[in-house]
Amino acid sequence: MSAYRILTARLELRCWHPGEAARLKACIDDNLEHLRPWMPWAHEEPTPVKDKVQLLRRFRSNFDRDEDFAYGIFLRSDDRVVGGAGLHRRQGPGSLEIGYWIDRHHLGQGLATEAALALTRVAFELHQVDRVEIRVDPANVASAGVPKKLGFQLEATLRRRLGLPGQKLRDCQIYTMFAAERPALQAPLEAYDAAGERLI
Ligand SMILES: CC(C)(COP(=O)(O)OP(=O)(O)OC[C@H]1O[C@@H](n2cnc3c(N)ncnc32)[C@H](O)[C@@H]1OP(=O)(O)O)[C@@H](O)C(=O)NCCC(=O)NCCS
Repeated sequence: MSAYRILTARLELRCWHPGEAARLKACIDDNLEHLRPWMPWAHEEPTPVKDKVQLLRRFRSNFDRDEDFAYGIFLRSDDRVVGGAGLHRRQGPGSLEIGYWIDRHHLGQGLATEAALALTRVAFELHQVDRVEIRVDPANVASAGVPKKLGFQLEATLRRRLGLPGQKLRDCQIYTMFAAERPALQAPLEAYDAAGERLI
């Protein structure tokens, strides 16, 4: 059971629709310098809208197969694109990893924390995993602030682990929260399945 649409106090996280490709591209193109130091995929940007349509089709098909969950982050007030986030299975069974980025014009308002908290609850309550991870470069102080604020524990630092092949690899801190630790998580949240039925 996947949450295709998640509502928090200020945000809507939803499975991207290919028709939103131009809006995603406009936001990424405006954030290249902000994203490149930390998001390996940003080095491949900018890409044409038609490539973004294919990307969002892949995101959606992964979602429909319950394999990987890439969300657009939109402001509830005016549906503006303010970032992207994901729940990823790449750390193995029983766990999900959260990733996120926020538009440079909307930083410092707690939006990444609000999105990551919602995804943490969805991971525990819907996907029933035992472990949620957030992986950050220790040099990325802004990103490390998110798991720290949510009560994740710093578990390990791996050397030269982040980056795509051919890129200079960066160190990686692993922040973890276990299901038994989740009672501390409280915030308004609604989650809906693909048919619009409420799940949380
Ligand atoms: C990292 C990122 C998502 C943070 O987004 P944000 O919405 O501004 O983060 P929040 O407002 O929720 O901040 C949460 C906490 O992080 C810390 N923090 C955020 N920005 C910070 C900064 N520039 N310097 C120091 N600490 C910072 C603070 O502790 C903050 O809590 P506080 O506001 O109560 O002090 C955003 O900077 C970004 O998109 N960076 C580029 C992409 C990226 O690095 N993604 C993560 C890869 S692991």
